Amino acid sequence: MLILGVDTSCDDTSLAVLDEERKIRANIVSSQVDLHAMFGGVVPEIASRKHVELIDSLYESALEEAGITSGELDLISVTQGPGLIGSVLVGLCFAKGLALALHKPLIGINHIEAHAMSIFLEREVEFPFIALVVSGGHTIILFMEGPCTYRILGTTRDDAAGEAFDKIAKYMELGYPGGRVIEESAKKGQKDYVLFPRPMMDDKNYDFSFSGLKTAFINYAKKHDINDANIADVLASFQEAVCDVLAFKTFKAAKEHAVKRIVVGGGVASNGRLREVFAERGKREGIETMFSSPQFCTDNGAMVAILGYYYFRKGIISPLNAKGYSRMAIKTGK
Ligand code: KG4
Ligand code: ZN
Repeated sequence: MLILGVDTSCDDTSLAVLDEERKIRANIVSSQVDLHAMFGGVVPEIASRKHVELIDSLYESALEEAGITSGELDLISVTQGPGLIGSVLVGLCFAKGLALALHKPLIGINHIEAHAMSIFLEREVEFPFIALVVSGGHTIILFMEGPCTYRILGTTRDDAAGEAFDKIAKYMELGYPGGRVIEESAKKGQKDYVLFPRPMMDDKNYDFSFSGLKTAFINYAKKHDINDANIADVLASFQEAVCDVLAFKTFKAAKEHAVKRIVVGGGVASNGRLREVFAERGKREGIETMFSSPQFCTDNGAMVAILGYYYFRKGIISPLNAKGYSRMAIKTGK
């Protein structure tokens, strides 16, 4: 069985071909970073236009790389939301057209769910486990009971973790996307140089708030001289606060639900310091922590393909009039 995965939720045009043995035959990601960098963030209209421009040829490339013809595809899986609506619709309409022309089933999936399940591209994980999805748009903790069966435990009340990285990088004029540039600079920094707040650590829930931390950073930057000599230290201190809060809440969720496994996905999960913090804490607390390889943390079509496959196996497919959503709730308890 061959599954096409299509993701155009944000600024990457991604198409992948996967077989049911989880073997990735092709995984093409065309990043638009250079186009948006000068604006310090993604410009929705530019993103959707670029998806339109690229999607046909990237589809052809994916088939070529996989060594197949379109007639050999068995299932078309596509991100239905959440994301920038103009961008989501490019991938969704393309996938619908393909499903219609090839007479193949279509499955519209939730992008956040795909991040939570991306680990399965590389290994099996025993259920139940706790999943933390940390991306540019979302920070969410899920209790994963089985494939396609989840419960939301906590989410961000305001900015997502990646958004905080991006906004601070923009404020400091460091470039886009913020996470990667901040991590790079922070590698040379002293992480206890500034003690930034750890928002909501005392609360009894599993929710996050990164807007306050972002404001604390900006207030610090207004009052102090951040220069070439100390910028790495200040950024390392900020990154440490983000990692601390993410680890604290996720491990709390695992312990309180008596779960011994934690899976982390989403763009921010490619952060090396976050991986270290989780690994150290996991070792100390006897909890296994698993991160996807960085290429599967950031947006990719392969994670969309594998999640679509799990739904298909359950007999769930989408109608050809499936809608696109900028906000899309994770359906739980299926
Ligand atoms: O999952 P993703 O590719 O797209 C969304 O679904 O949002 O995540 C993008 C986010 C951006 O906010 C970016 O700054 C962040 O992931 N990111 C990182 C790193 N690489 C990407 N954040 C921290 N450290 C990184 N190395
Ligand atoms: Zn994403």
